[in-house]
Amino acid sequence: MSQRFFLTTAIDYVNGRPHLGHAYEKILADVMVRHRRSLGEEVFFLTGVDEHGQKVQQSAQKAGLTSQEFCDQTSALFRDLWARLGLSNDRFVRTTDQPHKDYVRACLQKLYDKGEIYFKEHEGFYSARAEQFVTEKDQVDGVWPEIYGEVVKTKEPNYFFKLAAYQDWLRQYVTDHPEFIFPSFRRNEVLAALENPIGDLCISRPKSRLEWGIPLPFAEDFVTYVWFDALINYVSFADPGLPTDKWPADVHLIGKDILIPAHAVYWPIMLKALGLEQPKQLVVHGWWMNRGAKMSKSVGNVVDPEPYIETFGPDALRYFVMREMSLGQDADFTDEKFIQRYQSDLGNDLGNLVQRSLSMIGRYREGSVPARPAEALTDLDRELESDEPTTLFREAMESKQIHIALQHLWAYLQKANQYVEQSAPWKLAKDPALAPRLDVVLATLAETVRRVAVLTASVLPHTSEKIYAVLNLPVTAESFRLTEAAFGNRLEGKPVQPPTPLFPRIEVEKEEGKKA
Ligand code: ME8
Ligand code: MG
Repeated sequence: MSQRFFLTTAIDYVNGRPHLGHAYEKILADVMVRHRRSLGEEVFFLTGVDEHGQKVQQSAQKAGLTSQEFCDQTSALFRDLWARLGLSNDRFVRTTDQPHKDYVRACLQKLYDKGEIYFKEHEGFYSARAEQFVTEKDQVDGVWPEIYGEVVKTKEPNYFFKLAAYQDWLRQYVTDHPEFIFPSFRRNEVLAALENPIGDLCISRPKSRLEWGIPLPFAEDFVTYVWFDALINYVSFADPGLPTDKWPADVHLIGKDILIPAHAVYWPIMLKALGLEQPKQLVVHGWWMNRGAKMSKSVGNVVDPEPYIETFGPDALRYFVMREMSLGQDADFTDEKFIQRYQSDLGNDLGNLVQRSLSMIGRYREGSVPARPAEALTDLDRELESDEPTTLFREAMESKQIHIALQHLWAYLQKANQYVEQSAPWKLAKDPALAPRLDVVLATLAETVRRVAVLTASVLPHTSEKIYAVLNLPVTAESFRLTEAAFGNRLEGKPVQPPTPLFPRIEVEKEEGKKA
């Protein structure tokens, strides 16, 4: 049986439009699962939206809509954007979906019956922005850090989940499973956090304060704390007996702001208490920054992905965020860098190679790929046949170094472009005696372009399909298997189409006064 790979992303709050940080995570997820599919693995890719909680309720009120109407509108923005980016998710979860709500209630009832949940009067500080209670030890120099927004003191009776009882178990689990948290420096942060008492988790909000949530099955005048509800999305859509039988996940892909406590403390303990298996790995990415701060709706410095997709195409955005960020680290988004990568990496290195290779086949061989007899090959030709680019690409992908995988691929593209310069087909075409040499060069280029399409498919799926279309090759589920990247003679004697530029030059006008 082929290996299975189940990946989830964070589910985004729908209190605003999707921004570049959200898009990055979903693109990264898509690239990781497309790579797995290219190895023949059976993939299940889950993403979606987090619709309950105070932030969403407040945003709906501001917009003059009911919470449900507001969620319907904003969820559609996320879903549509993901479709435009070519995400290959198998499901799009909404936490307002009835099967999810039923499953959350079943989990709560189970924990309640097991005695894992108790009722108590609680006084504390609450941050709506982070949707969590905070304590004075979360202050820095006596003030609440920016990430918490406004913090208000509340006193109310609530239901608590016995988190603290599992602290020792969790510390041991994280210690015993070094692969559980990636990158490893994040694991050290988790272990450090577990040195301090974690306390129990308040899992309810009185309906008098917050209506927009899942009612507790054993106390209907309370709704479920949004994080408790949201985390369960990973199993409500994957648990045996429910729509699919997928659990446990191989990867939970999340940003660094939601590792501690949500994914590294609450979630493993919730699973343990529910008697469910642990996910194999938390993969934690960094932040896109803009003008020196984390890009976020609350700060108001978000980059809207739409105009970039509109102007440059979905693959340009996919490529940029994959090439520019080293998984786990932060990165800066600027228009200059974006345009530079578009023009140089995509336009010149990739677009131009495809463009000139196919144009020359059109011009010199009436659009038909010539033969490439083995005895006619030189060292120069053979260099482009090497499996090394595939091996290096794959190794980097498997160590989650996607930007490095792309560097290897681009080194190969550069080699191919040098090959064009060194072979100078336009000179060969002038001398009929050199026709056999020109055949070899054009056939080598055609096959190089084809394997480039295979290698780029997980990052640039639309581009790979366009290349296959001009090569008159059908796109099937198997077309972009990594095994297809081996150099062969698949195109010999076949007609190809006249190319159109993959990444046309775009004159970017700087608007007056607009900071790029
Ligand atoms: O936290 N750069 O939702 P969210 C990179 N609903 N990633 C970023 C980012 C940035 N500037 N800003 C946000 C939530 N993200 C919860 C998750 S999961 C069961 C519930 C990432 O909309 C962030 O790190 O605030 C997170 O992984 C995802 O976007 C959703 O963030
Ligand atoms: Mg957030």
